[in-house]
Amino acid sequence: MNPVKIKENVYWVGAVDWNLRSFHGYRTPFGSTYNAYLIVDEKIALVDTVKRSFAEELLERIGQVIEPAKIDYLISNHAEMDHSGALSRLQKLAPNATIIATERGQKALTRHYQSDWPFRTVKTGDTLDLGKRQLAFVEVPMVHWPESMVTYSPHDRILFSNDAFGQHIATSRRFDDEVGWEIVHEQAAKYYANIVMPFANPVQKALDAVGGLDLDVIAPSHGILWRSHIDRIAAAYHSWANAEAELKALVIYDTMWGSTEKMAKAIGEGIADEGVEARLFNLTLSDHSEIIRHVLDAKAILVGSPTLNNGMFPTVAAFLTYLRGLKPRKKIGAVFGSHGWAGGATKAIARELEGAHIELVEPELKVPFVPDGDDLRQCTALGKTIAQKINAS
Ligand code: FEO
Repeated sequence: MNPVKIKENVYWVGAVDWNLRSFHGYRTPFGSTYNAYLIVDEKIALVDTVKRSFAEELLERIGQVIEPAKIDYLISNHAEMDHSGALSRLQKLAPNATIIATERGQKALTRHYQSDWPFRTVKTGDTLDLGKRQLAFVEVPMVHWPESMVTYSPHDRILFSNDAFGQHIATSRRFDDEVGWEIVHEQAAKYYANIVMPFANPVQKALDAVGGLDLDVIAPSHGILWRSHIDRIAAAYHSWANAEAELKALVIYDTMWGSTEKMAKAIGEGIADEGVEARLFNLTLSDHSEIIRHVLDAKAILVGSPTLNNGMFPTVAAFLTYLRGLKPRKKIGAVFGSHGWAGGATKAIARELEGAHIELVEPELKVPFVPDGDDLRQCTALGKTIAQKINAS
C-alpha cells in the first residue's frame, strides 16, 4: 500500500494490522491500523509512529515520499507502544531529529526505550515552526494516558487527534466517506466504550480545548480518518462523555442448567413489553468488548448468575471486573439469579454493581432450582419496572 495523501504535502504513512484480534483484552475482530502522518514542509515532521513490528512498513511508506534521514521532528502525541514502537528505529536513521513530546511524554518514552534522545518538551499553546506551517499542541491528559497530547495544523485544518476519535478497523480505505458512517460510527463507539469511557471528564475538557478549531480532517491514531462526518462524530463524543443513554436495557447473565437463562428471557420480555430495547448476553457465548459497546448507551444493566460455591459464576465475575474498571456512569441496575441448596451469587453481584456506582433500583430476585410460572411472572414484572423507570428518566 502506498502513502496516502491527505492534503498537499501531508501523508498517511502508517500500517494496517489486518490480524490484530486482541488489544490488551479488547477483542478486535476487524483488526486495526497504527496511523502515522508525514508533514513535508521546509522542515519535515512525522506525527507518531507504529507498533514496532510494523516499523519496516512505516519506513517503506515514508521512503516513497522522502528519505527518512531527512526527518527533523518526531512528534510523539502518545507514548503507548502502538504509537511509539518504531521511534528507536527512526531515531537511528535520523539521529538529529528532535523528539517532540509533553514533559510526561518525555519521561514515559525515556523509560520505555532507555534513551537519551534529543527532546523538546511542549505544553498547551506551544507551537512548532515547519516553514509554511505552525503546528500547535494541546495537552489532553488521560486521553488516553496522562502524557497524551494532540497536534493541530491550522494551515491544513487537520487535527492529529491521537487515540481520540479512533476505531479498530483494518481496511485499505482511509476516509470515513469511503467506508460509511454506520460502520465507522459503530466501531468508534466500541472503541470509546472499551478504551476511553473511564475518562469522561478529561474527554470533555479535551473536546472543549479543540472545539473551536477549523477542521477539514480529524486524523486519529487508529482506523479511519474523518473528513465527511466531523460534526457527527464530535456530537457523538459529547454524548458519550455526558453518558447520554438510549431507551435500552442489557440483561447480562450466565446459566448452569438453564434456570437463570429462563429468568433472563422473561425479564427481557418485560422490558420489551414497555417499548424499551432489550439485549440479552450470555457471558459464556458473548464477547465482553461487544457487551461494553452496548453498556455505553444503555440506561439499565441487569446482571444474573446461578450460584456456584456460594458465589457468582466465574464468567460473571470476570465481566464485572472489566465493567468496574471502565467506570460506566448514570446507569441503573438490578440483580437476579437462581440457586440450589444455598444462594450467594446475587449478593456478590449486587456488591460489584454498587462498587461500579450502578444504582440498584429493585431488590435482588432469587429463585430456588427452577423458576415456575409465578417466578417467571415476577421476572417479567422486574423487566417492566426497569423499563418504566427508563421511560420516565
Ligand atoms: Fe492507541 Fe493508548 O494507544
